[in-house]
Amino acid sequence: MTSPAYLDSPFLRACRRETVAHTPIWFMRQAGRYMPEYRAIKERATFLEMCRTPDLAVEVTLQPIRALGVDAAILFSDILITLAAMGVTVDFNPGPHIPDPIRTRAQVDALRTPKPEESVPFVLEALRRLRKELPAHIPLIGFCGAPWTLACYATEGGGGKEPVRMKRLCYEDPTTAALLLDKLTDMNAAYLVAQIEAGAQAVQIFDTWAQLLHVADYDRWALPYVERMIKKVREATAAHSPAPVIIYFARESGALLPHVAHATADVVSVDWRVPLDTARRVLGGAIALQGNLDPWALFAPWDELRRHADEVLVRAGNQPGHIFNLGHGILQETPVDNVRRLVEYVHERTAAR
Ligand code: CP3
Repeated sequence: MTSPAYLDSPFLRACRRETVAHTPIWFMRQAGRYMPEYRAIKERATFLEMCRTPDLAVEVTLQPIRALGVDAAILFSDILITLAAMGVTVDFNPGPHIPDPIRTRAQVDALRTPKPEESVPFVLEALRRLRKELPAHIPLIGFCGAPWTLACYATEGGGGKEPVRMKRLCYEDPTTAALLLDKLTDMNAAYLVAQIEAGAQAVQIFDTWAQLLHVADYDRWALPYVERMIKKVREATAAHSPAPVIIYFARESGALLPHVAHATADVVSVDWRVPLDTARRVLGGAIALQGNLDPWALFAPWDELRRHADEVLVRAGNQPGHIFNLGHGILQETPVDNVRRLVEYVHERTAAR
């Protein structure tokens, strides 16, 4: 039997730092409210219903594949889905809202770490269906939150402001903080493994709140848990060939980058504030880079947007191991035409090299 086309796709090849026919491109949050097709579904279902109904999650995941011509699909879901599976009440309006945030040892002890097959079957069902319904050349990306970032949401309760409660817990009660991070690590490592078994060729770990940490605290409260998570995923999927790709995104992580290299991910998704050539120097040649257009650049007139895209490509350098993306998620009112045009442009410009 010949191997599926997605295994040799530009996206997976670039993640493995192999040569590519063109630079692959996809967008963090590529499905969402900026797309009219998404808003149409949102009129008849809440965000959580969309995440928990495989028919809807599959449909929304496919929307940007059809509309934009991107090189990879990312499962439509949310990093907080596993928190809900652990027994935390989670709602969205549209940002996350957790009415009873985790603040005490008793609450951490009460958190469950159920098997993903039992607690989030809808996610695995969506991935299995996606792998069948996606075009054969399109790889599928799964994801989860990093333990530190999930702990920030779990302890804060939402509200959209900068979370401070987890930092406070780390100083006030480090034993409870560590136990919370342990549980989140176990739950989400198993979740990533289950996503890979269900059909994802790559997984991305989102560490959106890593930026709250001083480098020494990052080394204590964030990095070891990400490392452990990655180790567990690699061990559990050791029989897979080729090995699943692991991507790590730490937002506003400029100062942390030398430490991010130790996370042992295959790909580092670089925040938009750090030029890719700087990131390359800091991270070395053995890690592929993803990124890192400023999401706001998509609001610019085309000529201006193209200059910014060129800047990203030039800084990525003419070498394997670059996946074009934004330096953070796509913004809500982003003009779809600009997104589509950018995909075409990156493909055309890099195919000519
Ligand atoms: O990339 C994709 O298309 C997959 C979908 C995806 C969503 N959330 C859908 C979503 C992914 C990968 C996420 C991850 C996620 N969720 C992160 C990490 C990425 C990052 O942005 O740093 C975080 C921090 C969350 C938590 C979360 N969920 C927030 C802060 C919000 C509010 C965002 C907003 O734009 O208002 C959400 C809700 C959410 N997650 C929406 C979508 C499409 C909007 C919900 C809606 O349509 O009402």
